[in-house]
Amino acid sequence: MMQDFVIKEIEAAVGRDNVLTRWEERWCYAYDATDLAQAPEAVVFPGSAQEISKVLRLANRHGFAVTPRGAGTGRTGGAVPVAGGVVLVLTRMNRILEINAADMLAVVEPGVITGHLKTAVEEQGLYYPPDPSSADYCTIGGNVAECAGGAVAVQYGVTRDYVLGLTVVLPTGEIIDAGARTMKGVVGYDLTRLFLGSEGTLGVITRIILRLAPKPGARQTLAAAFPNLKAATEAVGLILRAGLAPTALEFMDRATLNCVRQMLPFKVPPQVAALLLLAVDGHRREVAERAAAMARFCREQGARPVMRAKTAPEAESFWRARRAISPALFKVKPQKVSEDVAVPLSAIPELVGRLEQISRHRGLPILCYGHAGDGNIHINVMYDHNIPQEQEAVGPAVKDLFALVRQLKGTLSGEHGVGLTKAPYLGLELSQEAIALQKRIKKAFDPNNIMNPGKIFPGGGS
Ligand code: LAC
Ligand code: ZN
Repeated sequence: MMQDFVIKEIEAAVGRDNVLTRWEERWCYAYDATDLAQAPEAVVFPGSAQEISKVLRLANRHGFAVTPRGAGTGRTGGAVPVAGGVVLVLTRMNRILEINAADMLAVVEPGVITGHLKTAVEEQGLYYPPDPSSADYCTIGGNVAECAGGAVAVQYGVTRDYVLGLTVVLPTGEIIDAGARTMKGVVGYDLTRLFLGSEGTLGVITRIILRLAPKPGARQTLAAAFPNLKAATEAVGLILRAGLAPTALEFMDRATLNCVRQMLPFKVPPQVAALLLLAVDGHRREVAERAAAMARFCREQGARPVMRAKTAPEAESFWRARRAISPALFKVKPQKVSEDVAVPLSAIPELVGRLEQISRHRGLPILCYGHAGDGNIHINVMYDHNIPQEQEAVGPAVKDLFALVRQLKGTLSGEHGVGLTKAPYLGLELSQEAIALQKRIKKAFDPNNIMNPGKIFPGGGS
């Protein structure tokens, strides 16, 4: 338990109005987008790096845990304060400090909503490509901490590819800058990359320098319906190898399609087994031609029909349906374990093809969709926790899945991180030596293990 005098010291550091300690307030910051939750002992809303530094120094002195949090949209428990202590909510630090069109970069605080940043830069003719499905409500700081991906990563890359530099408060309270305002930079170790995807375990990000792209002139959106899973998943690698350069190359299986069918702007025939969703960005004059080539290619691979969004609102309703998949899956069962594995391109057909076997063996529906162009498939094991045999089958089904992914030389997480939910499986991917090195890095940053303890490493960071 945090003692009253410790809370008072925190209040002195950040202002009394910026600390919540009532039971019902603490529970508002207990969860993320998993079904895990644990209330912190205090919720703190800092206004600056200096205030965060003071809180972290107090954490070292008094031995309480600090879990940074953006909007709580993470999918692996990263912001769930399992060790109690303080949840440090970064939403007050939500200023876009600079959009510099000449240098094609933006400087932002971590609490900026990703969608707000995207809109603000587009107003200046620029583009911030990463587009997690939660872009309308997640924060950019959370995106950096988790290295969020999204649908256009197949062309543009993920959050990591846009972060040029960071200001970070280290767990011991020092404030450091990493990276530069330039595309290139090789002075010292690449600490910027080390913080990317570090899940709030190595420090608190307080300022982010982002590289921007030019705003695409136009975008076309297509949906290719395939009569069987194999043809759809095999088409993914073929589309990429043919040099059709899709901006998005997403996939959904029949059961997923059934969950969002009504939201789609087209009528999709009932016999369709899988859908590929494609986008192509480019100059107004060439984009229609490239979309037509993509449609032709999909037809050659057996797709019928191939539908094209004719207007911008039609395309938008299409992508809205795509972003709604994750919550829409609850139509199938009240609980899900939602994985985000990634495999090499050539292994996608086998990964998706073998899910049915796991599903039958474990007696649970498994739905899949996602960023096929990155080999990054969201695999959802659906269950009802009130049915004991379903609850018991979930863990083994996930183990089967991870074993398959490793056999296919894939990774356990393409975009959601390890957090709490995947910590027990870390050893399936990383060797003992690699885990030991990562723990030494953690210890060098955070000798007292106050920074988001309990995440990533099975049994904690030290
Ligand atoms: C998506 C999230 C789950 O792609 O990553 O919708
Ligand atoms: Zn995703």
